[in-house]
Amino acid sequence: MEKIRWGVISTARIGENRVIPAIQASDNGTVTAVASRSLEKAQAFAARMGIPTAYGAYEALLADPNVDAIYNPLPNSEHAAWSIAAAEAGKPTLCEKPLAKNAAEAQTMVDAFAARGLLFAEAFMYRFHPQHATARRIIADGGIGAIQIMSASFTFAVRSESDIRLQAELAGGALMDVGCYCVNAMRLIVGEEPANGSAVARFGASGVDEAIAGTLIFPSGVVGHFDAGVRAYRLHTYEVRGTEGRIQLDAAFVPHGLTTIVRHWRGDNYVEYSHPPVDQYRLMVEDFADALLNRRPPAYPPSDAVANMRVLDQLIASARTHGG
Ligand SMILES: NC(=O)c1ccc[n+]([C@@H]2O[C@H](COP(=O)([O-])OP(=O)(O)OC[C@H]3O[C@@H](n4cnc5c(N)ncnc54)[C@H](OP(=O)(O)O)[C@@H]3O)[C@@H](O)[C@H]2O)c1
Repeated sequence: MEKIRWGVISTARIGENRVIPAIQASDNGTVTAVASRSLEKAQAFAARMGIPTAYGAYEALLADPNVDAIYNPLPNSEHAAWSIAAAEAGKPTLCEKPLAKNAAEAQTMVDAFAARGLLFAEAFMYRFHPQHATARRIIADGGIGAIQIMSASFTFAVRSESDIRLQAELAGGALMDVGCYCVNAMRLIVGEEPANGSAVARFGASGVDEAIAGTLIFPSGVVGHFDAGVRAYRLHTYEVRGTEGRIQLDAAFVPHGLTTIVRHWRGDNYVEYSHPPVDQYRLMVEDFADALLNRRPPAYPPSDAVANMRVLDQLIASARTHGG
């Protein structure tokens, strides 16, 4: 099978731990080059990860004719500039979540790729896990009746005070880092754009929200609520309650190596749908590469990322208004 040759912008941990191994394990991709702001760092990283080419500047990676597609795992504040630079260099790009600092910036990115007819997608890998298709099928089959309420949580504790998630100038914060999953999952499962949203947050010394709780109201009347945090013990789950039943996912977003269970209650019945461990990063990069090879759109259009950012914009503005 033909393979897409990926270039990776930066030596980010998510690349090292998840996405580069996923590309290397994929059926339709290889990692051909990596760039860092430091050539020394790029060379050490390339040697460690088995990547043939190392560059000491991101521009050099974008100019490499042997690179077919870019994976951009820069800090959130840098997503736009370097994704747009990739578009200008004619490179299809998979950019980390959240796509940008705000919806207007995200739209500029989407436009830059659309204008050149280049593939562009947000690396929201959780969507590729089959447990969400199971949840959606149960709901579509009437398994919980009409959705009334959906809740989601994603929290974990950062290990270092220098983490990009605690830096305001890098567009960190709990909403940007993990709240974005809760909002995305609620939009995905409810299948609507929220009509309104509000939030309260506790802001840390660096100015980013370290814990946030938000509410959403959808046009059909579904009420959504979520919490997200970067200093709280780990939890990543969602629950959907309908008129007749409910479903719950215990490991909704980062179930690395775990068998996951979709729990389904309806009336007095309870059923568990078990899913063996899968590499959701691999499914994501294989979808992107397949879309590129077969000239089809990605599974999730980048316009979804703009819509998600629009909700995040409203929520963080609300949290700042309400203080904390
Ligand atoms: N989908 C997921 O599961 C998932 C999980 C974790 C993170 N993410 C996303 O991936 C992105 C990176 O997260 P991460 O935790 O992997 O970050 P990280 O380890 O801190 O890496 C970010 C990289 O960006 C480069 N960089 C460029 N300008 C920088 C600056 N001003 N400050 C710091 N680094 C800078 C650095 O690489 P060089 O020094 O080599 O240039 C650095 O290694 C974020 O957008 C995050 O939201 C996604």
